[in-house]
Amino acid sequence: MNALLPPTGLDAADLQAPVVPVAPATGLYEVIHRRRDVRSEFTGEPVDPEVLHRVLAAAHSAPSVGLSQPWDFVTITDDLTRRAFFEHVQAERKVFAAELDAPAAERFAGIKIDGVMESSLSVVVTYDATRGAPGVLGRHAIADAGLYSVCLAIENLWLACTAEGWGTGWVSFYREPFLRELLGIPEPIRPVAWLCLGPVTELQQIPDLERAGWRARVPLEAVMHSERWGLRA
Ligand SMILES: Cc1cc2nc3c(=O)[nH]c(=O)nc-3n(C[C@H](O)[C@H](O)[C@H](O)COP(=O)(O)O)c2cc1C
Repeated sequence: MNALLPPTGLDAADLQAPVVPVAPATGLYEVIHRRRDVRSEFTGEPVDPEVLHRVLAAAHSAPSVGLSQPWDFVTITDDLTRRAFFEHVQAERKVFAAELDAPAAERFAGIKIDGVMESSLSVVVTYDATRGAPGVLGRHAIADAGLYSVCLAIENLWLACTAEGWGTGWVSFYREPFLRELLGIPEPIRPVAWLCLGPVTELQQIPDLERAGWRARVPLEAVMHSERWGLRA
């Protein structure tokens, strides 16, 4: 075992394993385009632990700055915990609604923003900036690279859920101190996302916010620049 490497369970021979040849990832684009943020379609049925393990393993396979793997996953099924979070979300919903003008507030009133109580379980994903520190390779100039890594784990989880026929809903209507206290998350670890997970009856083809007339997606061409910002191809 190389003393410079942290213990991984791999021996020197494993570390010399040949690279995997590049092969087409059949179905990947289908999964990417099928993925939706889910609020209303959860069945709430108990989940297969093996599927949950695959989904979390997909999240844990994400790229991370300096191989820091700065994420943790807290699974939550307890109704009291979910209820407490749900009520906090409702309070934050009111805070946000109060910032809107009257027409927007009216539209927002008809939009569901979470499936906390309807989904099978929740997963809170956290960020630990101290993992692998000091000397996180690639983070010296961009501190946010650690958070980016956590978001990639979340996207992996989201796509894996979609591939499994599950839905995922990201809930960000919360204050970090509240969630830290609710789940006993120690400083300096930050909760990054409360995710609702589980089997669904169906996945919508059009995002809920678009169907509700809140916002429409912009075409790819509108966000493409060529060589310099603002120059279109
Ligand atoms: C960082 C982040 C936070 C989000 N927070 C919420 C939320 O609190 N409530 C909600 O209903 N949707 C939330 N969403 C989902 C977005 O509304 C959704 O991704 C977007 O409307 C596009 O829809 P789609 O994911 O189905 O393509 C969040 C998404 C992201 C990436």
